[in-house]
Amino acid sequence: MKKITIKDIKSLKKGNKKFTVLTAYDFSFARVLNDTKIDIILVGDSLGNVIQGNKNTIPVTMEEMCYHTKLVAKAASHSLVMSDMPFMSYKTLDDALINATKLMQSGAEIIKIEGGKWVEKIIKELSVRGIPTCCHLGLTPQYIHKLGSYGVRGKGQDEANTIKSDSMILEKAGADFFLLECVPTLLGEEITKALEVPVIGIGAGGKTDGQVLVTHDILGLSELTPKFTKNFLTDANSIKEAIELYKEAVLSGKFPSSENCFK
Ligand code: KIV
Repeated sequence: MKKITIKDIKSLKKGNKKFTVLTAYDFSFARVLNDTKIDIILVGDSLGNVIQGNKNTIPVTMEEMCYHTKLVAKAASHSLVMSDMPFMSYKTLDDALINATKLMQSGAEIIKIEGGKWVEKIIKELSVRGIPTCCHLGLTPQYIHKLGSYGVRGKGQDEANTIKSDSMILEKAGADFFLLECVPTLLGEEITKALEVPVIGIGAGGKTDGQVLVTHDILGLSELTPKFTKNFLTDANSIKEAIELYKEAVLSGKFPSSENCFK
């Protein structure tokens, strides 16, 4: 199977084609996603919730991210592997360089970082050293204790403007992808149109270039089903079939529907 590269994902955006992203934290789930030709496997720090049973992603450590990245990378002969930089692993530029190196040496092919324009220097320095980055904007779960809830971000004009201008600054700094979480559909669309690099959405409407969901959510394994997700196993006979249904729904534009989006 041909390995997907960052360049391939950028070409999909240029060709106006959608792409799919799902989370995995171990070899077996990664193998199913890889065999279903999901474009990107995200080793998300959501493993803190779905694997470890924590209330949030704050307890996830660098060692744990590297461990799960190694397991996923073994199966990813096709899909691109993107791994999260966990809470406080990039609090300084030195930390960011050291810890992003660890993730890449564990098998990540791009790293994801939560945060606005304050991560500009980090993105620049990683980029010139050959470490691709995805900037996570909108709802940033590592900020839960500052935010107070997992609600929609960018509903007000000021916050929407900040998210937009942060995305421009970070694209200029060298970000390869963006991930927009829980923002109004219109804002998701505006940012996707304004940026040259691909934008992955989760609860960001149907106009982003790619869509990501937490695999455990689409298989009905999570305690709650947030509005922006959907259980695809209810219409399938196997996990693989559920993943295929998700892929088909994203590529055909059927998912997300208006009931999965925010105004
Ligand atoms: O950690 C994760 O799984 C994520 C998704 C919610 C996008 O960042």
